Amino acid sequence: MSASLTEINRLRITRIHEIKRESPTVKTFTFHDKLCSKARPGQFIMVWIPRVDEIPMSLSAIGSDWQSSMTVANVGEATDALHQKKAGDLIGVRGPYGNCFTLAKGNTIIVGGGTGLAPLAPLAEELAESPARVTFVAGAKTRNELLLLDRLTAILSRIDGTVITATEDGSHGIRGLATDASQQLLEKKQFDMIYTCGPEAMMYKMFFQAERYEVPLQASLERLMRCAIGICGSCLIGRFRVCREGPVFSSKQLREVKEEFGRYRRDGTGKKCSL
Ligand SMILES: Cc1cc2nc3c(=O)[nH]c(=O)nc-3n(C[C@H](O)[C@H](O)[C@H](O)COP(=O)(O)OP(=O)(O)OC[C@H]3O[C@@H](n4cnc5c(N)ncnc54)[C@H](O)[C@@H]3O)c2cc1C
Ligand code: FES
Repeated sequence: MSASLTEINRLRITRIHEIKRESPTVKTFTFHDKLCSKARPGQFIMVWIPRVDEIPMSLSAIGSDWQSSMTVANVGEATDALHQKKAGDLIGVRGPYGNCFTLAKGNTIIVGGGTGLAPLAPLAEELAESPARVTFVAGAKTRNELLLLDRLTAILSRIDGTVITATEDGSHGIRGLATDASQQLLEKKQFDMIYTCGPEAMMYKMFFQAERYEVPLQASLERLMRCAIGICGSCLIGRFRVCREGPVFSSKQLREVKEEFGRYRRDGTGKKCSL
């Protein structure tokens, strides 16, 4: 039986089970929660850091036995407070919220950068269980910042898929951006679906590559979030609430909001500001 809205919205207190450092600025936190372990790839949760704030996070691993993970970059007050936590410390979670990636058949390409790789890892895991063929392009500034690479390589090796890495300084894989690598692949080969998550400038380029090569696209967007249940309007992009109609958007939806997508987000007061 699926969970009720009341259960999903209820703040559940859980202990951090394990913490793994992924890079100088990113850590993965594993915790137990029954509803999170039933989430679909692409869905997100709201994480309450006691006495600090509540912030949206993708699930970077959705396990059996109630175990899930989030992979968090230390960028500000709440994420820094989370980074100070130790295994055994308490956090709160509610969700999972939002829509999820739709699994495609055929030849798929996943393009991710930075912590955008987080929701793409469970997606790759699900695609690996399906008949789809998967090419994964992972980008970062340097080798040290390439996240979840061992896990992605292990997933893709099970199905004879390909992992291509792109670093801006050339310290791992090709020198350049993930979008340079995807451009070369799309030029050479026919794909049936593009999945992307990462910095919005990267997803914006992927949107145009998808348009140019006429491949459907699913992109997971980030916006400021407060309620996560579609009431407060903090997460608007055009007419869409990222927490409800997203976070995963199709090319068709992104065409509708192309005045904002890749250009503006809203700040804490609701005012549009440049990305
Ligand atoms: C659906 C969703 C999934 C996310 N998944 C992840 C994830 O898997 N890993 C991860 O590290 N982060 C993820 N984020 C972003 C994360 O929520 C923010 O980094 C966090 O809220 C910052 O909080 P803070 O108090 O540490 O920083 P703040 O002091 O609030 O902000 C630090 C900087 O980040 C910017 N910022 C804050 N929130 C957002 C946002 N939602 N989108 C874009 N910029 C923002 C601020 O403008 C500021 O420049 C996700 C966001 C959304 C909406
Ligand atoms: S976060 Fe409140 S409407 Fe989306």
